Amino acid sequence: MSELQKAAKRAVGEHVASMIHSGMKLGLGTGSTAALAIEALGRRIKEEGLEVCGVPTSFASERLAREYGIPLSTLDITPVLDLAFDGADEVDPHLVVIKGRGAAQTREKIVAAAAKRFVVLVDESKMVERLGTKMPLPVEIVPMAAAPVMNVLRSLGAQPEIRMGMRKDGPVVSDQGLWIIDAMFDEITDPEHVNNVLLNTPGVLDHGLFIGMATDVLIGKSDGSVQHISK
Ligand code: A5P
Repeated sequence: MSELQKAAKRAVGEHVASMIHSGMKLGLGTGSTAALAIEALGRRIKEEGLEVCGVPTSFASERLAREYGIPLSTLDITPVLDLAFDGADEVDPHLVVIKGRGAAQTREKIVAAAAKRFVVLVDESKMVERLGTKMPLPVEIVPMAAAPVMNVLRSLGAQPEIRMGMRKDGPVVSDQGLWIIDAMFDEITDPEHVNNVLLNTPGVLDHGLFIGMATDVLIGKSDGSVQHISK
């Protein structure tokens, strides 16, 4: 990641932390941008005594939240959240989002759906005219369903690939103990159709398309400024 990109990510992280008030119940996203927001939130808790709790979207964000002193909760205890923040891989002009480079999209979607406001944090490079043109769509699957799910993805026009571990032999195993297929499209022309087909495919737990969920998108610029788009 370049220094300019990091500055943009830091700017949106700090911006979303400034939108948070005492008493709020939060969803804590996963990834490098969400991590900077968790860090900024932790700073406000330490310096201003802000009282909040957060539901993490992954083991990674849970560990980070602990490190930065953010009190943790679960959806069993806190089923309705005031605001969830998270990064994204692509955002289109209708605020439809692709997530899941970090394989956390299933929990991220559950937490985002529980939140009254879902704030997506990106730098300018993530804004696209058409989804699927830069990044693959991650699909979380039961391992035995890999071959039939890949056939379904091919019928949708994608080139599917099982995501392989780094510093681990074999497939990436998600926080749910499942596998991830990365589906590379030329472009996703009909996200609703892809969503419906995948959610009706046996063995698919969920996928990284977030349709109609983002209420706000914060776009960080390399000069440190932030553009706020809200629905
Ligand atoms: C985690 O699985 C992802 O959904 C991330 O939130 C997304 O990939 C954005 O990551 P960065 O903030 O690291 O770019």
